[in-house]
Amino acid sequence: MSDFPIFPPQASTSAPQVDALYFFLLAVSVFFSLLIASLLLFFALRYRRREGSATPPPPPHAMALEVAWTLIPLAIVLVIFGWGTSVYFHISRPPDDTMDILVVGKRWMWKLQHLSGRREINELHVPSGRAVKLTMTSEDVIHAFYVPAFRIKADVVPGRYTTTWFRATTPGRYHLFCAEYCGTKHSEMGGWVTVMEPAEFEAWLAGTTPGEATPASAGERLFSSLGCVACHRKDSMGRGPILDGLYGRSVKLQDGSTVPVDEAYLRESIVNPGAKIVAGYAALMPTFRGLVTEEGILQLIEYIKSLAPQEGAPAPVGAPSPPAAGSPAAKGGPAS
Ligand code: CUA
Repeated sequence: MSDFPIFPPQASTSAPQVDALYFFLLAVSVFFSLLIASLLLFFALRYRRREGSATPPPPPHAMALEVAWTLIPLAIVLVIFGWGTSVYFHISRPPDDTMDILVVGKRWMWKLQHLSGRREINELHVPSGRAVKLTMTSEDVIHAFYVPAFRIKADVVPGRYTTTWFRATTPGRYHLFCAEYCGTKHSEMGGWVTVMEPAEFEAWLAGTTPGEATPASAGERLFSSLGCVACHRKDSMGRGPILDGLYGRSVKLQDGSTVPVDEAYLRESIVNPGAKIVAGYAALMPTFRGLVTEEGILQLIEYIKSLAPQEGAPAPVGAPSPPAAGSPAAKGGPAS
């Protein structure tokens, strides 16, 4: 029987919650299916047409019965709604102290990178007991990251970031699938998640091979090789906003609105810089769409996240003073 399990193993903290809800739904469905089927049979026999009997008059209005069959199902679906909502919130809201992993899906593989720099393809190693958050995007079409043993499944969509999280409970190896049809080798786009004891995981993570830069340091290299540094200078003389300490704050835009600086905003500002111009700056930045891979964008974002606020620097909220017209910084086209 173990070769053909009906349910995948429960290997994350979400798994028992999801299963309990599913068993409840199953129990409700089985109960009503049996009730309706047996009543159907019973009534068909009990009230079958007999020799010589006249058709009875239609039954009168039965208020009590109608109220009962309205309120009981209403109560049941409200329980399902409340319960389902609470499980959904638990699954969709990662806790604060997560270990973050970057995921890029492409036809037909999963590319994963730990913030220490260690890369994996179609394999993911994680420690047990630790909340792990995945920030995911796709290089081509829609994929879906699916680990049945963790009861997580999230679409991985080109052009945006989706996140999901899990806290693995039991060391072992668990199947990873792509759960969104993405072409010829969709069914082969999978691999394994290996859950290790925390100490074992630390040893594994320390085995990083030379040359595996952390995403943040790879991002720093990209930042200078793409020429970003020419405009986003740390001395506030650049044509673009200073990025130090920017992540996690809010910035004020030209139109007066305010946006939180998160991964999605940073990504958009790299591939579509004109979409949200910070107040006080001009729309000078060219798009880097196609010039940098999705992994590169994730690395740039990790670099920006790693930039601590400067000493005594003004908060990025509000309008930093733009370079004076005619100053060297205001002239000329984009640096790259
Ligand atoms: Cu990727 Cu299916």
